[in-house]
Amino acid sequence: MLSLILAVFVQTCIAGYVIEDDYSKDAFFGNFTPFTDPDPTNGFVVYQNYENATQQGLMASVANYGSANYMGVDNTSISTAGRPSMRISSTKTYNQGLFIADIAHIPVGCGTWPAYWLVGPNWPTGGEIDIIEGVNLQATNQMTLHTNAGCTIGTTGMASTSTVNTTNCDTNASNQKKNAGCSIMTSDTRSFGAGFNAIGGGVYATEWTSQYIDIYFFPRSSIPSDITSGHPNPSSWGTPMAHYAGNCDINQHFTNMNIVFDTTLCGQWAGAEDVWGVSSCANTSATCNAHAQLLPSAFTEAYWLINGMQVYQEAGSSNTTKREVGRRGFVQW
Ligand SMILES: *[C@@H]1O[C@H](CO)[C@@H](O)[C@H](O)[C@H]1NC(C)=O
Ligand SMILES: *[C@@H]1O[C@H](CO)[C@@H](O)[C@H](O)[C@H]1NC(C)=O
Ligand SMILES: *[C@@H]1O[C@H](CO)[C@@H](O)[C@H](O)[C@H]1NC(C)=O
Ligand SMILES: *[C@@H]1O[C@H](CO)[C@@H](O)[C@H](O)[C@H]1NC(C)=O
Ligand SMILES: *[C@@H]1O[C@H](CO)[C@@H](O)[C@H](O)[C@H]1NC(C)=O
Ligand SMILES: *[C@@H]1O[C@H](CO)[C@@H](O)[C@H](O)[C@H]1NC(C)=O
Repeated sequence: MLSLILAVFVQTCIAGYVIEDDYSKDAFFGNFTPFTDPDPTNGFVVYQNYENATQQGLMASVANYGSANYMGVDNTSISTAGRPSMRISSTKTYNQGLFIADIAHIPVGCGTWPAYWLVGPNWPTGGEIDIIEGVNLQATNQMTLHTNAGCTIGTTGMASTSTVNTTNCDTNASNQKKNAGCSIMTSDTRSFGAGFNAIGGGVYATEWTSQYIDIYFFPRSSIPSDITSGHPNPSSWGTPMAHYAGNCDINQHFTNMNIVFDTTLCGQWAGAEDVWGVSSCANTSATCNAHAQLLPSAFTEAYWLINGMQVYQEAGSSNTTKREVGRRGFVQW
């Protein structure tokens, strides 16, 4: 009996992260809101609402698809207005937390620019954390923070396979390309694109505290058991893929952030002349927009498969915007 009490006591003391929201399975789309404005990054897409996306087969929940939530891109039309696609934001916003996303497939192919990210209000004042991002035939993941002035990062505390390409998170940093932010690239080809999809993907875990923002990637075959059991303990995971810390007041630069998944095409990054033009994608089509408009069959791999997503908070913390969403099951739209 004493040992039982002790065990409970010890467990309470080391409680660590506790679940706040579980967006898994059929609790996914209902807790996100579709974005239907023109793409702010000038992509060749027309973002669809849930009704239209469902009709066009661009989205399918676990209830209708199987084991994962499907979010894709049209692969039949040749409209000049832009290819139908989707961008969705969590209805809830966060301040700090541990974000676990189990993803089985990332959109790939010439013209694609998929992203899984967090974004605060009044960009870049509320900050942006790009957890998964890349374009065209990019083989590895690029992670980036975007802020207003006054946030720079160091280059230590992360895997040896990672390179810090830029250290100033300020979108206006004078010695960096406009909007470059502070960017870290991994050389692990399992982290993005075709290499990610070939292994059935894996888990991206993002720990956002007042001191640092760490991003971990676990390939499907090596997901830690504390994640699968629902008791994630980042201190047991070793070195993160990306470690963001330095001369940056994280609580000031990252606030009230929504979780976003999207697939845009071309636009300011994938379609840029110095990106598209130098890639082997240019062998097929002179411009990204021509590719995106005229070759619907090039987009058959441009879909997300999201097994699930959870947000955890430190036991006892009160950092989140309290709202009744999450563990109430599937919400009809
Ligand atoms: C949904 O589809 C209808 C019919 O094609 C169209 O009129 C409407 O603009 C679409 N809505 C959005 C948000 O794309
Ligand atoms: C085209 O997209 C639909 C869903 O929109 C998907 O079911 C279908 O498999 C795709 N076609 C091909 C050839 O991949
Ligand atoms: C960045 O600089 C532009 C002018 O070059 C200015 O309009 C904008 O407000 C600046 N943004 C931030 C976040 O400082
Ligand atoms: C980042 O640095 C790595 C290693 O030097 C390089 O291979 C990669 O192209 C760089 N990425 C960007 C976006 O500059
Ligand atoms: C495609 O273009 C690149 C230069 O952009 C060139 O190096 C490469 O050999 C080309 N590949 C094919 C298959 O034509
Ligand atoms: C989050 O909570 C911690 C501890 O309660 C506090 O120190 C920190 O300032 C809070 N951060 C934000 C952004 O509210």
